[in-house]
Amino acid sequence: MSIEIRSIAEPELDQYIGSVRTAFGDEANEGEQDRVRRVLGLARARAAFDTKGRIVGTTGSYDFSLAAPGGVDVACAGLTRVTVATSHRRRGILRSLMADHFDEAAGQGAALSILWASEVAIYGRFGYGQASENMAVSYDGRLADIAAPVQPDELELIDPAEAHTTLPDLRERHRIARPGLFHRTPVWWEVRSFPDHEWQRTGASANRTVLASRNGEPVGYAIYRQKPKWNDLDLPDGEVRVGEVVGIDDRALHTLWWYLSNIDLFPNVTAYLQPVDSMVPWLARNPRAIRRLVNDGIHLRVLDAAAALTARRYDTPGELVFRVVDDQRDDVAGTYRLVVADDGTARCERHDGEPTATLSAQALGALYLGGCRPDPLVTCGWLQADGRTVDAMRRMFTWPVAPFCDEGF
Ligand SMILES: CC(C)(COP(=O)(O)OP(=O)(O)OC[C@H]1O[C@@H](n2cnc3c(N)ncnc32)[C@H](O)[C@@H]1OP(=O)(O)O)[C@@H](O)C(=O)NCCC(=O)NCCS
Repeated sequence: MSIEIRSIAEPELDQYIGSVRTAFGDEANEGEQDRVRRVLGLARARAAFDTKGRIVGTTGSYDFSLAAPGGVDVACAGLTRVTVATSHRRRGILRSLMADHFDEAAGQGAALSILWASEVAIYGRFGYGQASENMAVSYDGRLADIAAPVQPDELELIDPAEAHTTLPDLRERHRIARPGLFHRTPVWWEVRSFPDHEWQRTGASANRTVLASRNGEPVGYAIYRQKPKWNDLDLPDGEVRVGEVVGIDDRALHTLWWYLSNIDLFPNVTAYLQPVDSMVPWLARNPRAIRRLVNDGIHLRVLDAAAALTARRYDTPGELVFRVVDDQRDDVAGTYRLVVADDGTARCERHDGEPTATLSAQALGALYLGGCRPDPLVTCGWLQADGRTVDAMRRMFTWPVAPFCDEGF
């Protein structure tokens, strides 16, 4: 079977979108052409073509800056739109598309690749490890009884025009401290974040934006929808669907959660994507009233181990010589020496000494953002190291802020 993998051209855009939508079993929605053309870019929309010029597989790769532990950005490819035509499955097309993605991303200088998986079991074999988790929370605000902040910030509902000027800067100030959050470019905000299409509402209201300020300066915001409902007794039973809650500090976040949990007529609060170390359960007088569901978040693959491990910061100084086993990328496989200084900065270089730890690309991906302890990787056989080395790795790699990605892509 002869397959050509290349970027799509403008006349192939409809076919590319159609292939993706057929694989996911839905239809193109309003704004999708713009999202591919303007946010992803046609050059980064890749497709596998058969000999008749038909698309039989697709990928897309965003150009991200990703927050890594310690408030630093790392160049990262965001893999998306991974599909193979049902008529052509299990003939190795995905394997070829993944190899193409790694070559392209590494060639463009990305040290990492991340993805959200529809089917997680596919990606370990390509060197991706589970790098973050997320938590869905839902509760009745009357039962949970969120305590009022000692000193609440001021709150106001703002219109879309004000949101456009205020939100990007606020999110950027909060983003860098949370490993796993990627920078949103102006075009990302314009085409992906701000539009509020009917199909996104699923029966709820348009987006509302509440802004928190302190001494006249914005310190946080929340975006939410409302879905009105009355119960059998005709009592208000509406829902607040929380999209984003962003605050530059805990006081701002507390103020916003307190607001969201006390909207008259809307006692039911649901927030689908929150970090696992969210403060919400700790604000409630009755934390058991808060239902929590934790799931895997982004999966991460290291494409340039020396650059990626030099860029991030570490919690504890130390030195580690380790070997990465990688059957997909010769430019990743090999032995490295990581030296972490007292201030948490590091240098990672290729090394010809004897390693004290050997790990798979998948294990390296799981460790990178600091949310995974090395211990379970040992029992799975993805990391081989003695107890002392595992202790040292735990202290070096784990990070106090839970990694989290706040947006599917
Ligand atoms: C998932 C999908 C992309 C696989 O494509 P494919 O061309 O059949 O995959 P390949 O033949 O290249 O298989 C590559 C490897 O992945 C494995 N694999 C493929 N699909 C798998 C699945 N759904 N679950 C687990 N493993 C899978 C294959 O067994 C093969 O393993 P091996 O090489 O170690 O033997 C395709 O079935 C599809 O488009 N599905 C619908 C959309 C989707 O789920 N996309 C993923 C989005 S995150």
